[in-house]
Amino acid sequence: MAHSMILAELIGSLSYALDLTEGQPEGHCVRSCWIGLSLARHLALDEQTQRDIYYAILLKDLGCSSNAARISELYLADDRLFKHDFKLVGEGTASTLGFLFSHIGRGSSLKRRAESLWTILRHGKEITDQLIETRCYRGADIARQLRFNETVACGIQSLDEHWDGSGRPLGVQGEAIPLASRFALLAQLVDVFHVAGGREVACAEIARRAGSWLDPRLVNAFTELARDEAFWATLESNEVDAVVFACEPGKQGIAVDDDYLDAIAEGFGQVIDSKSPFTGGHSQRVALYADKIAERLGVVPERRRWLKRGALLHDVGKLGVSNRILDKPGRLTEEEWVAVKRHAAYTEEILGRIPLFSELAHVAGAHHERLDGGGYPRGLHAGQIALETRIITTADIFDAISAERPYHPANSIEQTLDIMRQHLGSAIDATCFSALEAVLASEASPTWEPSTLQTVS
Ligand SMILES: [Fe+2]
Ligand SMILES: [Fe+2]
Repeated sequence: MAHSMILAELIGSLSYALDLTEGQPEGHCVRSCWIGLSLARHLALDEQTQRDIYYAILLKDLGCSSNAARISELYLADDRLFKHDFKLVGEGTASTLGFLFSHIGRGSSLKRRAESLWTILRHGKEITDQLIETRCYRGADIARQLRFNETVACGIQSLDEHWDGSGRPLGVQGEAIPLASRFALLAQLVDVFHVAGGREVACAEIARRAGSWLDPRLVNAFTELARDEAFWATLESNEVDAVVFACEPGKQGIAVDDDYLDAIAEGFGQVIDSKSPFTGGHSQRVALYADKIAERLGVVPERRRWLKRGALLHDVGKLGVSNRILDKPGRLTEEEWVAVKRHAAYTEEILGRIPLFSELAHVAGAHHERLDGGGYPRGLHAGQIALETRIITTADIFDAISAERPYHPANSIEQTLDIMRQHLGSAIDATCFSALEAVLASEASPTWEPSTLQTVS
């Protein structure tokens, strides 16, 4: 079945999750898309090229979650803040070093900061190469899974290449850098500096990087475009999302059918799971368990398919939580707990941007609600919690307890079920739990072996 929504609206809405990962103010990818698209139109590029640039920019940060944990661990820093501030650093070694000195290990002991700094100074190049490589290749791979063509995938892969060859991962230069990447880098910088300092600051920063980071011809074209008041007015308005979605180049012929929706949910599920080494495969497993429980409870196939998407995306809000907290081995402080709990509301907010997902947003965003009213984000009571949410919650808790987490080792299926039994009726729905038990008893499939429940460490 084809749904009455355009692909741009779906992908554009999900790009808000990528903004969260990058620590960017919400709407960064959509605004960058407007900047790149306006430039492509200004240059009168053909429709297919405009379309490739459009999606390469909307999805430029698809791979970002995959280096968040490493950044947090290496730099002893809040990955989101680190990534945000790093985008504002000027060119050159001195600026980079100044940034590192001021950002490494904020809040850590002097000894840990010194150790971290020493590692980075000694292995800085390899570390940065690795971080960028992970992000670029992972992002391109996920774009391919989302059925985008090679031009879009390569545009994402080469986002960090610079015109003068000083970029990464390959250090290619000039026109050897895919056109979509050159557009994406320029558009990203314009948005970051425009948000931070306004139009003049953005224009000055772009001009300064002409010929070093940026394609000088694109910079010239941007300088012309920057004289157009209407361009800035849209960029600065609340209508920018609607305008960008309505302007999707070559939009005819792309139907978002159920298969494509499944593929998009799977792809973003991977972005979510890449955020932390402790959640590798979590969304996929929760989707699998939720589907099995739903089947056992007699939920009709069409609704199960819908629910599976919700299960894949239930933790999309975790992209907005720092890995300093998500991967913390010890007890969380009060403040850190508040930050973790925010992920459920973020999930509802992100999915709620997509009209087709409005019901799913409530169902998935409520996965930490408890039947006794002690859950979050709303503190709903049993009568207010849908069956579909209870199914996701049961699957989620089963995976969280059975898999290794920073705060506990992996548990066997029996241990996991024993722990869950203590929470029946308060946090876990007894009917969903019985269905889970029945599924586990009936399936001798290897997918249910505890070894496969352990997360990648
Ligand atoms: Fe969660
Ligand atoms: Fe979860």
